[in-house]
Amino acid sequence: MKQLTRAKITGVGAYVPPDTLTNADLEKLVATTDEWILERTGIRERHIAAKGVASSDLATEAAKVVLNSRGLSPSDLDAIIVATVTPDMFFPSTACLVQNKLGAPNVWGFDLSAACSAFVYALQTGAQYIATGAHKRVMVIGADVMSSIIDYTDRATCIIFGDGAGAVLLEPSEDELGLIDFMHVVDGSGGESLFMPGGGSLNPTSHETVDRKMHFVHQDGQAVFKFAVRHMAEVCEKLLERNGFTGKDVDVFIPHQANLRIIKATGDRLGVKPENVIINIDRYGNTTAGTIPLAMNTALEEKKLKKGDLVLLASVGAGYTVGATLLRWAY
Ligand code: COA
Repeated sequence: MKQLTRAKITGVGAYVPPDTLTNADLEKLVATTDEWILERTGIRERHIAAKGVASSDLATEAAKVVLNSRGLSPSDLDAIIVATVTPDMFFPSTACLVQNKLGAPNVWGFDLSAACSAFVYALQTGAQYIATGAHKRVMVIGADVMSSIIDYTDRATCIIFGDGAGAVLLEPSEDELGLIDFMHVVDGSGGESLFMPGGGSLNPTSHETVDRKMHFVHQDGQAVFKFAVRHMAEVCEKLLERNGFTGKDVDVFIPHQANLRIIKATGDRLGVKPENVIINIDRYGNTTAGTIPLAMNTALEEKKLKKGDLVLLASVGAGYTVGATLLRWAY
């Protein structure tokens, strides 16, 4: 039988729009305080895209950083997968728009929808094309302009989300470094705990859907919190166990940045050393599909990632969707 090829991450790039929205700014919009937001979420500020800047713009910038870091050109890419819950529009896909903005002549691509788990799902999807030998270079991007679907009069949601993108390049690995294993779970029974009900085929856009604020994120924060704390850790535990590891073996834990309390509870339950947990939620908030590659970039900036490190990625999001990926850092 043909041996499958392991995929490895060979480059990471990040891009956030320059404008920020601080907790002090939010105090002027809704009944909240800097202390409350910081204590309950760990967030100090988020980056917000200017009017007319869309997910494809952030995604393209992040992808350019990756290509530059590897000394490659857009013509070297075989495929582009964009993880997003805020595509520029229903169609064409954001991947098509990124292809055009990058000027990548030899690629195909598509968008992947799994909310906050979309990046890890896209990473594994891209890895399958490397595994089969179909492709040599797949750009996987997580990009969201959450500010486009947030109601800035709803204090339950507007404090959490921000805009940003991160990208990684997947290439074939010649050794044991790279992606080892993954575990993904969906539980659709949690659909109405975190969703945007308007604009799709169920509730097509109308004056009524706009008046009823159906084009914004709706969230039952406590339900999401409880699900996240339990299930992100559970999936990570199972993934570590079936590969003969425990949390103590994890050199770098890169969790989805949804809430500092969720991150800390998950790290503690897994037994990951606190200094091995990557946290940047204070600066970016929850950028949905962007959080994990943005945090990967933070880990590189802080020199916390080195060749051979055992890395655990973990996410939880609307759906519900849960995902975990285990890899050995390759560079
Ligand atoms: N500022 C000030 N007070 C607020 C507030 C805000 N932004 N939002 C809620 N409150 C108030 C509530 O009204 C409530 O007041 P009461 O006790 O007088 O009724 C109190 O604070 C506690 O509210 P609660 O909803 O229990 O807060 P919480 O500790 O659960 O924190 C979230 C709310 C949204 C921050 C938290 O539930 C959370 O992060 N959930 C997960 C969300 C998430 O991660 N989503 C993305 C998943 S990928």
